[in-house]
Amino acid sequence: MDINWYPGHMTGAKRKMQEDIKLCDVVIELLDSRIPRGSKNPDLTTLAAQKKRVLILNKADMADDEITGQWKKYYEDEGYYVVLMDSRNRKQTLKITDVVRTACKDKIERDKKRGIIAPRPIKAMVAGIPNVGKSTFINSYVGKATAKTGNKPGVTRGNQWIRISKDINLLDTPGILWPKIESEETGLSLAFIGSINDNILELTELAYRMIIRVEELYPGRVLKYYELDDSEVKEDILYKIAEYKKCVKKGSEPDIEKTAKLVIDDLRQGRLGRLSLEKP
Ligand code: G4P
Repeated sequence: MDINWYPGHMTGAKRKMQEDIKLCDVVIELLDSRIPRGSKNPDLTTLAAQKKRVLILNKADMADDEITGQWKKYYEDEGYYVVLMDSRNRKQTLKITDVVRTACKDKIERDKKRGIIAPRPIKAMVAGIPNVGKSTFINSYVGKATAKTGNKPGVTRGNQWIRISKDINLLDTPGILWPKIESEETGLSLAFIGSINDNILELTELAYRMIIRVEELYPGRVLKYYELDDSEVKEDILYKIAEYKKCVKKGSEPDIEKTAKLVIDDLRQGRLGRLSLEKP
């Protein structure tokens, strides 16, 4: 599958990110808990290597609890502070304040020792690829609609500083992807979670590949959901799902494109249950 996912405006955004990272004490990166490796921006890993780093395993409510627990440990062992989260839940997002303070305890101690009466607030950058839930997180955390939400990967916003408390300022950055996605599997995962604009994807192929992937990891999950008798996924599965969903064009011909969209949506919205597509 040939995916051209890197719109020109993202190059500029990366340059801006590089400059902004220099201003910050800590970088908070949101990952999608269903693909914690695939949704982690390698550019950011390099650019923020010298900073304190917090990872939010977002949409944890949509992933396999046990595997998400393994990812938490994996990234903690790499030196990250890791928080599991459902960003739609404000209470959960508020945990970040303590995590940021803990991550920046050296700075806080240093300021104290120097006797600074009004220390400079901690500057925390918030980053994440499109559709990872960054706006949802910021809106919940800040408590009002400051960040724009929407399901349009590739639509950038300007960077924005947000005052959280007298000791923490957040820098909201646009959701960007990196120029070269190393494997087709990662490309597929990113398409799966809706981080690559659907307009540039071949949806029937994507749906088919998504079904195969889920069936490999969770045998029977897709077949059972669409009440198919088959013991394995066959090439005509979209036709069978079209029949099951009564998804037909005029003249009773199955509407495969529409069926593909339905399947993709069912999987993305978690209707087939919690899924983790990657293991550490
Ligand atoms: P972005 O800024 O990173 O691009 O993502 P955004 O916040 O717009 O979120 C993308 C979608 O993911 C939204 O759903 C949002 O509700 C959902 N979302 C964000 N965080 C979580 C989470 O922790 N758990 C779950 N289950 N969903 C989350 P949408 O369908 O595009 O819109 P809507 O449902 O808000 O109408």
